[in-house]
Amino acid sequence: MDKIPVRKNDEFIVDIIDYGADGEGIAKVENFTIFVIGALKNEKCKIHITKVTSSYAFAKVVEIIEKSPYRVEKDCESFPRCGGCNLRHIEYEGTLEIKRQKVQNLVNRTLEDKITVNKTIGMDKPIYYRNKAIYPISSNKEVGIFAGRSHDVIPFKECKIQTLESQKISKYIVENWKDTIYDEKTGKGLLRNIMIREGFATKEIMVVIVQNGTKMYDATNLIKQFPNIKTVVINVNTKETNVVLSRENIIVYGDGYIYDKLGEYIFKISPNSFYQVNPVQTEKIYNLAIEKARLEKQDIICDLYCGIGTIGIFASKYVKKVYGIEIVEEAIKDANENEKLNKVENIEFINGDVEFAFDKLLKKNIKPNVTIVDPPRKGLDEKTIENLCNLGLERLIYISCNPATLVRDLKKLEFVYNIQEITPIDNFCYSSHVECVAVLKLK
Ligand SMILES: C[S@@+](CC[C@H](N)C(=O)[O-])C[C@H]1O[C@@H](n2cnc3c(N)ncnc32)[C@H](O)[C@@H]1O
Repeated sequence: MDKIPVRKNDEFIVDIIDYGADGEGIAKVENFTIFVIGALKNEKCKIHITKVTSSYAFAKVVEIIEKSPYRVEKDCESFPRCGGCNLRHIEYEGTLEIKRQKVQNLVNRTLEDKITVNKTIGMDKPIYYRNKAIYPISSNKEVGIFAGRSHDVIPFKECKIQTLESQKISKYIVENWKDTIYDEKTGKGLLRNIMIREGFATKEIMVVIVQNGTKMYDATNLIKQFPNIKTVVINVNTKETNVVLSRENIIVYGDGYIYDKLGEYIFKISPNSFYQVNPVQTEKIYNLAIEKARLEKQDIICDLYCGIGTIGIFASKYVKKVYGIEIVEEAIKDANENEKLNKVENIEFINGDVEFAFDKLLKKNIKPNVTIVDPPRKGLDEKTIENLCNLGLERLIYISCNPATLVRDLKKLEFVYNIQEITPIDNFCYSSHVECVAVLKLK
């Protein structure tokens, strides 16, 4: 574009024609893209330009001239500054269609096979649904939540997606251990973040105090006040980094882990192990993945990026053998214990980077005929895609928390596999994130 048609502080009346990746409204001024925070598709708005780059601009809504029927009154005082939910101004059913459309747009833009993405599987009660919370502490010594796209801490009254118990615990800790709070400017003090994990089925709670040093706390009163706390752990993080947890844990109380139950299985969860944040929706993801894999008694399957072994253990009773691969050592230790806890005898967990460990497994002449992959947001590496293509699997299930890398990888897998279906599942209700289960079959 030769000349950018908008400048900071300009105002326009625009039609909102679509949604961006983070749920912002999209408008065009002389074909130049404007991301309008807080605007809904099909609304007409007066907007104020807040930032301009060479290829797009951001704007805020000054006035809604024609309102979408999906718009609802916000029910949280921290919205829209908080980065937890960016779709709280939209009726829940509407958020599900926005997520479906987001995946559909990527499919239409990228894949050969322009399949219709299935409806998003929603949650019956999308409130207080997260089993893991990380609460930062603001410079004025209040417990908070990170703002969207920044490290600013916003104090909150009541969060609609974290559990009420975890909110109470975090506020209690900050109130009672105020004097120990870390100051980013001076580097003095201890308490930096609080991570709380809850087993929704077992009601067990783990409190992880992230602190700038090894000083021990007396947690007696905390445990008395909240008897469901089964363990308190200090995580020592002295680095100036955005990564919340270090690998150094000191147990203050309990065993350093909790248990949760998913479906018919029990899982041990340690502080550094990955565990899906929405257990209600996770069961739906796992059951859908297993149903679509159409597992049979003679199948040899791989569960790549297996975490604490959840998917492999869910699949184990249908197949001959499961191999799970995971990079985090602590998660593999949990997986091995979970195997024993659930009396699973046909599963083997391997600690390693999928890129190399999967390759090594195949070179030992182990040939899975079905594989389930569930990589982190960055998706699959080239070697693993090459291996998955060379294997010619009967069925391949790709679970993803990032539709952009999912579709990027599906494009490469499309040479060998038909993409049969993609189903979004609302694991992160009211945020713009979405989980997907893609089903691939050998051509
Ligand atoms: C989205 S989680 C899925 C975990 C598990 N499937 C579940 O449902 O709980 C991705 C997992 O991949 C692991 N991971 C990340 N990079 C990896 C790599 N290069 N090789 C193996 N595992 C990796 C992470 O530690 C995490 O446990």
